[in-house]
Amino acid sequence: MNFSSSVVKVHDLVFEKYITQYEIDSIVNETAIKINSDYTNIVSSENPLIIIGILNGSFMFLSDLVKKINIPSEVHFIKVSSYSGTKTTGNVVDVIGLTQDISDKNVIIVEDIIDTGLTMSKLLETFRLQNPKSIEVCACLYKETKCIPNLDIKYIGKSIEDKFVIGYGLDYNSQGRNFGEIYSLLPM
Ligand code: IMP
Ligand code: MG
Repeated sequence: MNFSSSVVKVHDLVFEKYITQYEIDSIVNETAIKINSDYTNIVSSENPLIIIGILNGSFMFLSDLVKKINIPSEVHFIKVSSYSGTKTTGNVVDVIGLTQDISDKNVIIVEDIIDTGLTMSKLLETFRLQNPKSIEVCACLYKETKCIPNLDIKYIGKSIEDKFVIGYGLDYNSQGRNFGEIYSLLPM
């Protein structure tokens, strides 16, 4: 497999390059600029921004993003899972590893992609039980036409069509996460 080529095969499926490194860099930069500016007068080292990455998919986006965050912050991770193959199962399994006390904190949840939005709405429901001071969502990618209504996502890296994508943390049956760029499924 050639990671920089414009077409890649993963398991039984073929994907073509969809979002380049250059575009990813600008998504990361613009998102970080917005977050830095929105929180600069709100957070302090006594009351840092709590950034929570959703594993596994968010690891690359989160890693790039937090390097550009220049305000006091903490980085934490939790794990959830709802996907099987190229389709959501509709069942969001329990949140694993939510040990951080977020009551009265300013929180941003960082996701790789919002598809139906079910994962995020379940997460927000769970997190809000702890009465954070504020809670916002930051997603690298957002499938606008597919997402349930009324899900308020403050930071969207890029809205995309309803395509199955891999790379930059996103997987197809556990493979493709390591690609530095984002690829979309080619119709068979
Ligand atoms: P949702 O609950 O339908 O919004 O799905 C969210 C989760 O499903 C994301 O965190 C991803 O892990 C996974 N997912 C959604 N769309 C894709 C995709 O196109 N490629 C790979 N994983 C995806
Ligand atoms: Mg995910």
